[in-house]
Amino acid sequence: MPMVPEAIVAMLACTRIGAIHSVVFGGFAASELAVRIDDATPKAIIAASCGVEPGRVVAYKPLLDGAIAQSSHKPEFCFILQREQQTCDLTEGRDFDWHAVQEGVTPAPCLPVSGDHPAYILYTSGTTGAPKGVVRPTAGHLVALNWTMKNVYGVDPGEVFWAASDVGWVVGHSYICYAPLIHGNTTVVFEGKPVGTPDAGTFWRVIAEHDVKSFFTAPTAFRAIKREDPQGEELKKYDISGLRALYLAGERADPDTINWAAKVMGVPVYDHWWQTESGYCIVGNPAGIEPLPVKVGSPTVPMPGYDVRILSPEGEELPPGELGAIAIKLPLPPGTLPTLWNAEDRFRKSYLDTFPGYYETGDAGLLDEDGYLYVMARTDDVINVAGHRLSTGAMEEVLADHPDVAECAVIGVADPLKGQLPMGFVCTNKGTDKTDDEIRAECVRMVRDVIGPVAAFKLVAVVARLPKTRSGKILRRTMAAIADGEAFKMPATIDDPAILDEIKQALQPLGYAKD
Ligand code: COA
Ligand code: AMP
Repeated sequence: MPMVPEAIVAMLACTRIGAIHSVVFGGFAASELAVRIDDATPKAIIAASCGVEPGRVVAYKPLLDGAIAQSSHKPEFCFILQREQQTCDLTEGRDFDWHAVQEGVTPAPCLPVSGDHPAYILYTSGTTGAPKGVVRPTAGHLVALNWTMKNVYGVDPGEVFWAASDVGWVVGHSYICYAPLIHGNTTVVFEGKPVGTPDAGTFWRVIAEHDVKSFFTAPTAFRAIKREDPQGEELKKYDISGLRALYLAGERADPDTINWAAKVMGVPVYDHWWQTESGYCIVGNPAGIEPLPVKVGSPTVPMPGYDVRILSPEGEELPPGELGAIAIKLPLPPGTLPTLWNAEDRFRKSYLDTFPGYYETGDAGLLDEDGYLYVMARTDDVINVAGHRLSTGAMEEVLADHPDVAECAVIGVADPLKGQLPMGFVCTNKGTDKTDDEIRAECVRMVRDVIGPVAAFKLVAVVARLPKTRSGKILRRTMAAIADGEAFKMPATIDDPAILDEIKQALQPLGYAKD
């Protein structure tokens, strides 16, 4: 579903009758949708005919039809919301018109469910290509979300709250749908971008028109606005004096963006850190109770229920100031994931096995003397592109399928707008008659077709060989450091250091690895 009110209606209709929903972001390709259909085995699928992206209408129905054709599991029926921007054909006997099926129907009563009944499954990226189905328990989730609305976001029932995200992400589930509504706030459903729909003043217009009191988005959105309107001229056209604070999450909030947003908007800017798995912030500023001093670069302190620790690779707790794996001492608070859908073993392996007694977040960072957390990087192969969590492993699986690709690696490189971008390195088979340009174009096309436009996969370097350790492990972190022009220590176990120079040379035409 695109960002239309019916998306929220569909989610709530499911929870009303005790049906588990799984929302899939519109920027994924048909095969990603098929993987989710096979894992969640839905009885029904609800979709719109299209989504509206800047400059183009994205036909969703062919994506849905393609996914159902590819999946082994087939839904019993589909409800299709026809949008005027582009309608679609309905498959006789399987597809039903959203409005037509509701004609003259009596609403079903609410079904009481037990507290641990899954409200939804939300797929997110992990180290391997297969997405992880995060399960959300009903009761703890609602209790926790309700608590955050006043104590973190500082809004009272009746006020307007806006999270500029998408229902396909956890921010959208929690803060476009469930949290504002359970707390009695009005929520804003916005189908558009911070820039280009039509201009860099869109956010200010929506805030002014709806008297938004508390606003939540990803730092990348502000980087996009800042790039287009560095002086904040557009803001002069609107009255956003009703706004109390801006909340940022989804990726590291860089100090430049925080400072710029605070200066232009004249409200406090609060970074807060969380994940699909948690469903609400693990570390934040309890501004609605009493704002703690902001330390730019830190999302502030652990929220109630979260006992955040920094651990060494051996699982020893590290003192303040030392960098390590960010872990949460068990038990996790209410509303956080109890398991992964159909994958209890993977749940244990991904989160609980590395540090017995702790939940492993997959992020690295440190706590300072005042207990403020600093989140520095991921410890796995997950990258963050415009606030979207993506698996480089999944992209490598796609590239490896190219008939001329012998070997490949995908890393995340720094990008001034999106935070990170994926970059592929491919070694071609000997004797291929394709040019490097052809290979590059085909790789880009394949990732877009298999994973989707959301991957924003556009950078590919064709190289003779990949840097590896003597045991054959590809040195992805070293490659990323070279790309970003960061200092790095030559890995002691590197097989052939000369390859690093070759990597650097391959990166320079792409605008990376500058001297
Ligand atoms: N349906 C179909 N396609 C979609 C889509 C959707 N719901 N959402 C994104 N896409 C497509 C885009 O059209 C784009 O395709 P393109 O390669 O043909 O241009 C691609 O996926 C990448 O989209 P996006 O990441 O949004 O990049 P962008 O260049 O269009 O916009 C920003 C960049 C920074 C403006 C945009 O990412 C943004 O507004 N981010 C806000 C942060 C956010 O929502 N984060 C979510 C977690 S809080
Ligand atoms: P997602 O599950 O899509 O919400 O992505 C969660 C991941 O995004 C986290 O594990 C972090 O790597 C990153 N992230 C989210 N919020 C922040 C933040 N405020 N600061 C730094 N990283 C963040």
